[in-house]
Amino acid sequence: MEVKKAVFVESNSDWSKCPKHLLPEFAFIGRSNVGKSSLINKLTNQKSLAKTSSTPGKTLLINHFLVNDSWYLVDLPGYGFAKIGMEGRAKLDKMIKDYVLHREELFNLFVLIDCRHEPQKNDLEFIEFLGANGVPFSIIFTKADKLSKSKLSTNVQAYKNKLLEEWEELPPIFVTSSETGLGKDELLDYIDSIMKVSPDDSSVE
Ligand code: GTP
Ligand code: MG
Repeated sequence: MEVKKAVFVESNSDWSKCPKHLLPEFAFIGRSNVGKSSLINKLTNQKSLAKTSSTPGKTLLINHFLVNDSWYLVDLPGYGFAKIGMEGRAKLDKMIKDYVLHREELFNLFVLIDCRHEPQKNDLEFIEFLGANGVPFSIIFTKADKLSKSKLSTNVQAYKNKLLEEWEELPPIFVTSSETGLGKDELLDYIDSIMKVSPDDSSVE
């Protein structure tokens, strides 16, 4: 799929206030600074559609972007962001979880993981939360340009092994770089393929 048009629609602090529409929605979640906003910019061929920063905690609201007038990309705040205090963090975590649990338009949630690190407790707990609640998700490894090919494949395999300790089957997994564009086409094609699944197919358990 080619992205021909992408526009910012609005930011919200509450899932129930998000745009009302019947279009498919794909959201990006993950720890603060993992590269959610950067990847949204890469996918949409724009430098600063989503706001990015080298300092964690840039995205603090639910941001909707309309793509090709037919589906939405959603940039979410990172979880586990420490610098806003316990209360602020609890509020942010609730904003994210409420969105994930209630937003009916959400076709698929992409959980972004920094490929440089060993599996982190808060990522694994979040993935477990998704599984427990039946939220459809995929995993995207980010910042692949920061590792050698061999280290990258070692880390990705180690992560898969870790997931297989808890899961019988792995979710779809993508390896990306917002610097080089690695994984961009695969990701867009995957989104396209999910949208093409008819409602009848998707209701089969
Ligand atoms: P929050 O909004 O704070 O939760 O962060 P985020 O997950 O949206 O991260 P963001 O896209 O703002 O990127 C964080 C930092 O990582 C920025 O300095 C980006 O330039 C950098 N970054 C993101 N993706 C990549 C990547 O693929 N490769 C490299 N080298 N740097 C990246
Ligand atoms: Mg962000």
